[in-house]
Amino acid sequence: MTTIKVCVGSSCHLKGSYDVIEAFKEILKKYDVEDAVDLQASFCLGFCDKGVVVNADSFEGPKVQKLGDDILFIHNVNKDNAEELFAKEIYPLLNL
Ligand code: FES
Repeated sequence: MTTIKVCVGSSCHLKGSYDVIEAFKEILKKYDVEDAVDLQASFCLGFCDKGVVVNADSFEGPKVQKLGDDILFIHNVNKDNAEELFAKEIYPLLNL
């Protein structure tokens, strides 16, 4: 199971966290991966100047990419680039 956390800290909130969460809900449906992803809201992830910040982690399977401390941080996410970032950065983590 991969966890996607969308920061809803005050800075990211102002930059549109809610829209990003809604976009991810639609994307997970579109890619039919709702069962493989746990979508969560998160407190501040520590990169407030780069919001909206999303992180993804996955600890299963041989295809998991280890990035940083096994956690992928994606910066400057908005509702318009969410799908592109999901396809490029997160989908490969899902080990499908
Ligand atoms: S408020 Fe989102 S990283 Fe700090």
